[in-house]
Amino acid sequence: MSNRTLSAAMPCGAVLLAWAGIAAAATAPSAIAAQGNGHGAMACQGCHGADGRGQAGSAFPRLAGLDAHYLQAQLDAFASGTRDNPVMQPIAKALDDDERAEIAMYYAQLPTGAGAVPGKAGAGDAPGARLALQGRWSQQVPGCVQCHGPGGVGVGSGFPPLAGQPAAYLSAQLHAWKQGTRRNDPLQLMQHISSALSDADIQAVSAWFAAQPARLPETAR
Ligand code: HEC
Ligand code: HEC
Repeated sequence: MSNRTLSAAMPCGAVLLAWAGIAAAATAPSAIAAQGNGHGAMACQGCHGADGRGQAGSAFPRLAGLDAHYLQAQLDAFASGTRDNPVMQPIAKALDDDERAEIAMYYAQLPTGAGAVPGKAGAGDAPGARLALQGRWSQQVPGCVQCHGPGGVGVGSGFPPLAGQPAAYLSAQLHAWKQGTRRNDPLQLMQHISSALSDADIQAVSAWFAAQPARLPETAR
């Protein structure tokens, strides 16, 4: 077949249009992160940071390096309404099932980064540290690290990291469970724990975890 018959049979423009059609059908997760999906889900980077590491001093959490199943479960919870949030609910609803799964996998494989600047956590016997490390057994509150891992770095798909997340984000979650606006946790574990915490407890333990490094020193990423 000569070049002339080839271009007559398949004009270049048609090829481009066909390719553009495929691209439009499934927006790549990296494009959703940077630009949104074009129908209601805004660019994730605008709030969660260019590298997905959240914004210290805001209520925008780190997504980078969190477990993919956890991230997807949270997006599903925002979409279904078991996790109330006026910002994330419309965004999660505007993503279809495949987009939610793919953006979760995309953020899960991004490097965690060093996270918070250590050193502002307060001494080991400060109230926040005591709750985090030992809990308060008189109220049946176990130490947070028993489930969230050493230093709060997170364990598997069930127990998300607390280390290095913005203090305002952590405290918003604890208040949300207390108020019943976040109801998606398995066995109501966090609903029970947060109901035993005072406002001062929440502030102290959130500040303590926010000041912990986001990863263990020996981990590669
Ligand atoms: C306008 C700001 C904004 C944009 C844009 C945004 N988010 Fe969020 N996101 C938030 C806020 C605020 C929270 C905390 C909500 C809460 O307190 O429950 C959050 C929480 C989350 C969580 C829960 C994290 C956790 O640790 O439980 C996930 C997952 C998430 N966002 C994913 C995304 C994805 C994916 C996108 C892009 C499609 C996105 N977000 C775009 C503001 C935003
Ligand atoms: C018995 C196990 C357990 C203990 C102890 C525990 N947690 Fe949790 N925590 C969980 C589970 C499970 C989740 C995930 C809930 C979900 O899937 O939405 C969670 C989630 C969280 C989140 C939300 C993180 C995010 O990314 O949105 C915060 C904040 C939190 N816990 C704080 C604490 C604090 C503070 C303590 C100690 C006072 C604590 N947890 C003790 C089981 C536990």
